[in-house]
Order: sequence, then C-alpha cells, then structure tokens
Amino acid sequence: ELPFAESWKIKMVEPIRKSTREEREQWIKEAHYNVFQLRAEHVYIDLLTDSGTGSMSDRQWAGMMLGDESYAGASSFFNLKNMISRLTGFDYVIPTHQGRAAENVLFSYLVKEGDIVPGNSHFDTTKGHIEGRKAIAWDVTIDEAKDTQLEVPFKGNLDPKKLEKVLAEHADKIPFIIVTVTNNTAGGQPVSMKNIKEVRAIADKYGKRVLFDSARFAENAYFIKTREEGYQDKTIKEIVKEMFDNADGMTMSAKKDAIVNMGGFIATRHQDWFEGAKGFCVQFEGYLTYGGMNGRDMNALAIGLDENTEFDNLETRIKQVEYLAKRLDEFGIPYQRPAGGHALFIDAPKVLTHVPKEEFPAQTLTVELYLEAGIRGCEIGYILADRDPVTRENRFGGLDLLRLAIPRRVYTNNHMDVIAVALKNVYDRREQITRGFQITWEAPLMRHFTVQLERA
Ligand code: F0G
Repeated sequence: ELPFAESWKIKMVEPIRKSTREEREQWIKEAHYNVFQLRAEHVYIDLLTDSGTGSMSDRQWAGMMLGDESYAGASSFFNLKNMISRLTGFDYVIPTHQGRAAENVLFSYLVKEGDIVPGNSHFDTTKGHIEGRKAIAWDVTIDEAKDTQLEVPFKGNLDPKKLEKVLAEHADKIPFIIVTVTNNTAGGQPVSMKNIKEVRAIADKYGKRVLFDSARFAENAYFIKTREEGYQDKTIKEIVKEMFDNADGMTMSAKKDAIVNMGGFIATRHQDWFEGAKGFCVQFEGYLTYGGMNGRDMNALAIGLDENTEFDNLETRIKQVEYLAKRLDEFGIPYQRPAGGHALFIDAPKVLTHVPKEEFPAQTLTVELYLEAGIRGCEIGYILADRDPVTRENRFGGLDLLRLAIPRRVYTNNHMDVIAVALKNVYDRREQITRGFQITWEAPLMRHFTVQLERA
C-alpha cells in the first residue's frame, strides 16, 4: 500500500521567517507576555488559531471573481443560502461577518437577563454573549473531558444527566440548548451522533430548541464517520445532514470549517427565530442579504462549505493533526487525548508542575514555546476562563491548556516536526521552569485577548 499524502497540491506560497531568541525576548516583553499582542511578522509558525487562517482553494478564488456586490438580493447570497439549505435542511439564513456576530444577532433576540443556557463548554465569545446579557452559560460537558489522559472517542459530548437536571430544575429560564460541534474548549473533541440524538430527545421532552455552534461541524462529521458504529459507509454530507436534522438552528463561524478568512451566518428551520433575529442583523451587521460580508466572500464561503464536507479534504486535515500527536507521543508530552480535530491541547499543569495555578501554567508554556522557536500557540485555560461573574474570583475549575491550532491547508508535516521538537526542548527543561506570570491589567470580559502580564 502507498503512504498517505495530501489530497491537494500547492499553487501559491507565502514566505515565513525565523528570528533569534534575543529578538523574541524583546518582542514578547513588549507584548506584555500576551501572544495576541505580538506582530504576526515576529512569528515563525503561527498556531494561534485555525480561524480565518486557512488557505482557500483555486475554486474558492474563482468564486471571488464572480462575487455579486449588489446591496440587496445578490446572487452570491443565494449561492450561499442554497448551499447551507442543501447541507443542513435549514431554509432561513442570515449572513453575518463572523461567528460571534451570529451569536450577537441571535442572542439579542433569544437571551434575556436571568436566563440559563446549557451547553458543552461554551466557547468564550458564546459565553461572553450570554454572560454579557446577565444570563448564565451552564456547562453540561461530560466529566471524562476533564481527564486529558483518558482515551474516549467522543469527549465533546453533553452529559444527558446534567442536562436533564438543569432542565428539570430551571426549564422556565432556559431559552435553548447549545451543542458545540466539535467542542473546541474541551480540546477539539467531537460529539457523537448518539449524543446529539439523546440531547434532541431531552430537549423535546421539555419543549426546548437546540442550537448548534457549528464552527467545526465538518470535522465532527469526520469523527462520526471514522469512530461511530454504523457511519463508516455514509458520506460526510449524509452525516452532516443527519446531525442538523436534530437541531433547530445554527450559528456558524465560517472561518473554520468553511475555510474562508472572514464570514459567518445563522441558519434555522424556524420562521420565528428568523423574524426575531433579522432586525438585529440590519442593526449590527448589514442588510439581510449580505450581513457584513462582501458578495465575493459569500461565494467563497459557499464553495468552501461544499469542499470541506468531502472526506478527502477532511482526512488530509485530521491526519496532519494526528501526525503531530504521534510526534508528541514519542517525547511523552501530555495532551488532551485522543488528538482533536483542529488542534492539540497540551496539558500545561502536567508539564510545568512547579508553576502554581495562580501563575498560569498554560500561559507560561505558551510564552516558553514562543521563546524557544517563534511558535505562537494560545492559552485555553485559566486566563481565558475569565472571572466568575458573581464572585469575581479566577476560575481554576477547568483545564489549563496550551492549544496548538493547525490552520487548514497551510503548513506541511516538516513544520509539524519543528513544532514537536521545539516543544520537546521546552519539555526537557521543564524542571527549571518554576515561576509563571501575574496579571497587571485585564478587561472585565474576554480578558485573554488584551490581558497584560509580568513575570511572577
Ligand atoms: N464558536 C466556536 C466553537 C469557536 O471556536 C469560535 C471561534 C466562535 C464560536 C466564534 O467565531 O471567531 O468567527 O467570531 N473560535 C476561534 C478560535 C476564535 O480560535 O478557536 P468567530
């Protein structure tokens, strides 16, 4: 049998540059030890996010040239709407400029003060849009997700018992349930079809609707196909349709699985959600047939959705993440197992055992990896968790991870080797790293983007 290789070849390249350790010491200090504040040109391999950082295909670029920039009723909007309806079965589509904008528009209609929105590890902007409305993002992720070394296939699942309990006790305060596919915060972990159907059944029992936070829905479908009994012979598009058959609507950050640099949307089967949300689209985003996107971007988005719901494209992507995971296994570096769809999440407190949680181990590891090789990962941990909205205490209850997010169709496995060896070098000197960081300035919500730190 021949070895595995990518299902595409490269038609356009962008140079990247290395730097010296002295330069990086200076740059990260100027950035207040927050990698979001670094200049991208000071980064060699950028694993900050897989969001908006993918490479578009030749078909997507061709679609850009055919964009219809009419203010209202552009053909590009209908290309997008038709593709979404074909994949999901949802007839009502509201474009927005990205995922959090979709949350803002829909939640402006759906979420009220005092509400409770249960879900599996709400993403930070999702949590922000709930808590910013003085409502509660109630986490019902399975407990297994918290044990990074436990190897279970669908670690992104919702716990049906936790969900049932919050519904039984607070049904009147719950506007809808969120299912995040894949579960980014828990490590890019998928949700099984079985779990999706269980959630649907519980929601139906209490007369509640289910919203998918769909940023990585295609990667989730890949895992259902490759890991769940009974789905091996189904196409990705068939699995995607079956997933959405169990939802009432979706918010989408198209910057991930639609492989565009900017874009998002809301889609739903319910006219009342559409009618309720559309005014907020006009107010915050733009008219209903562009919602903050260019016509050309809607064309590229529609084509990206089509391409990335094909098995070969997804297989190339996930196998690269698995390749990096295998390299880390060689060195014994602990990450959230099994490897996630879009990223590897290093279990920082297991690496930097001498750095106390109050000094943010994952942030410390993020800075160390940057200093080592100019590789920019991202803290998904205690800083990102923000403070408890009531007590204002740091939230140390979750995981403290360094995320290495792999952009789609961007880096080669040679880059993966550089990442693995750089991380090993840090790992080899982990006993010498005893101090972390303390916060000198932070925003009240979503503080990780702008937080300023100094060495503790
Ligand atoms: N939902 C999930 C699951 C996400 O991962 C993101 C973004 C959003 C919603 C918001 O979408 O960025 O288009 O406004 N995640 C990025 C990340 C930022 O790096 O994981 P957006």
